[in-house]
Amino acid sequence: MEEQRPSWTSRCSFILAAVGSAVGLGNIWRFPYIMGQNGGAVFLAVYLLLIMTICFIPLFAELAVGKITKKECIGAYESVNPKLKFFGVLNPITGILISSFYFIVGGWIINYIFLGFINPKISDYSEYFSIFTNEAFSNCVYALIFLFICILFSARGIKRGIEFANNFLMPLFAVILIGLIIFSVNLPNAYLGIEYMFKPDFSKLNSHLFLSALGQALFTLSIGMGAILTYGSYIKEDKGIAKSAYTIIISDTLFALMAGVMIFPAIYSFGLEPNSGAGLVFVTLPYIFSQMPHGDIVSIAFFVLLLAAAITSGISIIEVPIAALVERAKFSRTKACVVLYFIISAIAIPAALSFGILNDFRICQKTIFDFLDFITSNCLMPLNALFLCLIAGWCIKISGKQFINNNIVAALFDIGLRYIVPIILIFLLYVGLK
Ligand code: TRP
Repeated sequence: MEEQRPSWTSRCSFILAAVGSAVGLGNIWRFPYIMGQNGGAVFLAVYLLLIMTICFIPLFAELAVGKITKKECIGAYESVNPKLKFFGVLNPITGILISSFYFIVGGWIINYIFLGFINPKISDYSEYFSIFTNEAFSNCVYALIFLFICILFSARGIKRGIEFANNFLMPLFAVILIGLIIFSVNLPNAYLGIEYMFKPDFSKLNSHLFLSALGQALFTLSIGMGAILTYGSYIKEDKGIAKSAYTIIISDTLFALMAGVMIFPAIYSFGLEPNSGAGLVFVTLPYIFSQMPHGDIVSIAFFVLLLAAAITSGISIIEVPIAALVERAKFSRTKACVVLYFIISAIAIPAALSFGILNDFRICQKTIFDFLDFITSNCLMPLNALFLCLIAGWCIKISGKQFINNNIVAALFDIGLRYIVPIILIFLLYVGLK
């Protein structure tokens, strides 16, 4: 007998969970630094254009495949055609690989929250960051604590665990974010940061910027790993996924913009430059916090905010392999969570150690951490998104007419799903692997 599949309590809980998945480190850590490296407002303009148009298509397709098949990734593809099973298997594998480095960054956040409480006098944050990421033991311990928190929520199931985490953490996230924005825009010279974000200099437009914007948009919408597909498969009622997809895109974009409005004014107010790369949130911001009045409280608030966002996304990443273990291997949810904890740890620990003692161990000249980031962001995620669009467009034959009233927009959707987005993804793959 078919076992009863779990489902969301309401459409609202589904949207909140999907927004919780989308809004994560990608919005608060990655978005500002990628934007900072790509000239600010001009990057934002391209990003907004892409996320509102092209990115709607794979997001919608993931949701639709999940909702139509009502299965996790492997079962979903298999139900279309048993030969497609392999493409489904790639999704949980990608999930396990992404978690291995996503959770290390999650561990860094916990470290910075403790730092806020201890409040030691650190003069050089860049040195602090490199010393502590090099400390193999604490790097592992923090990552495992972060993983443990996410697994704990997941083990409690869809309603009692995932919904509960999102219902509690997303409002906390929004309140802290608004508080920090008010604080940031009231700093002296804050307007310079706002200008940087919203006054585009189109002479800086180039193809690299276009690809970075596209990669960021796909990552932030959690596309290319089956997370949205799996969440979509828990939808019960039969209404508006197009509306849900747009709600997810708009909320995610608003949160990314708010993160920018929180971070850039603070950076400019302290006379710094926003192009410091991945260290923006872990080096530049802590320095700013250490210089401002009540900086320790602001710092704790900021990293708690980041932690809340990272947990809700982390939960969605591990849901893909968990659902696969529960529905395919017929594990109980608890057993699936325990098994997954060990599998992810087995990859995350060497990845964490690659900042220290395993630094000399290289795969394709990259440390384990960088390799995991590279193989998932540049290869597996675009590949999964490509297979998804092709399967949704050519095998399931999802058509715009089923959910869009306007004939021209519906036809554009069909062409986008079958041709344009796959071609763009192949191009992204080609450039990413070069
Ligand atoms: N979107 C999340 C962020 O912005 C990360 C994330 C969660 C993700 N689930 C995903 C990325 C699935 C790719 C695929 O941080």
